[in-house]
Amino acid sequence: MKVYKTIKEVKSYRANLKDLAFVPTMGALHTGHLSLIELAKEKPVAVSIFVNPLQFNDKSDFEKYPRDVERDLKKLQGVDFVFVPEPEEILGERLTKVSVADISTKLEGKFRPGHFDGVSTIVATLFNIIEPTDVWFGEKDFQQVVLIEQMVRDLKFNINIHRAPIVREASGLALSSRNERLSDNGKSEAASISKGLFKMREAALKGEKNIEKLKQIYRDLCTLEIEYIEVVDELTLDPITSVASKSRALTAVWCDGVRLIDNVSLYA
Ligand code: PAJ
Repeated sequence: MKVYKTIKEVKSYRANLKDLAFVPTMGALHTGHLSLIELAKEKPVAVSIFVNPLQFNDKSDFEKYPRDVERDLKKLQGVDFVFVPEPEEILGERLTKVSVADISTKLEGKFRPGHFDGVSTIVATLFNIIEPTDVWFGEKDFQQVVLIEQMVRDLKFNINIHRAPIVREASGLALSSRNERLSDNGKSEAASISKGLFKMREAALKGEKNIEKLKQIYRDLCTLEIEYIEVVDELTLDPITSVASKSRALTAVWCDGVRLIDNVSLYA
């Protein structure tokens, strides 16, 4: 497996390939990331590992983000190349920003100002470097994949964006690199996030349409400090007043000083 640090190396390898699937990551790889890579493997696969400072609205979250590239590389199998860029080459002067209006300021965007501009800016940059034909994103970061799909449509990137399902621990806790920072007790408390979301889904599938009642089910089960629980239309990400065909519940909570997000669809 090739490990490239420069854009030049990536470009010269890329020139020999027709199709290329791409999985962008910030490292601290877990089974969730590896599931995207497995799905991507119908084509040659590139993975990037870059902890993107532009998308951290909280400096200490950036500093505490787990980093261990050597361990990450050991986990990667059957990947054509890994791009581990130097921050200077990626960020450079960085006077240009890519911003997806509306989507970037809803839900997560309200609590993490600038976060999604940082994501769209770095993802557009990576797309221009890697020139993938297919890119895989996890539904764990549901708003992120909706944002990137919009960006690809608007900027006419010739790329197929694929959505992959959320990988969870046996407890239901969605895998996340940030889970590494949870205490044992925190981890078991964090299982109450998915318990609450799954109960909401169960109630919605049984016919409950009232959003307030659904949110209350979640609040009754989730034992952590809830930053938000919202039910939205999946296409617009706008809050809805009654459950409809494509509704999704999204939440952010705090556990052991770590911010965790999760979501679930409310339709079969
Ligand atoms: P990161 O958090 O490392 O996630 C990389 C990809 O893995 C994202 O598409 C994310 O949705 C997916 N992923 C993470 N946990 C998952 C899980 N439990 N199940 C399924 N997929 C999961 O998302 C980012 O990095 C960054 O914002 C990035 C796109 C790389 C831009 O910097």
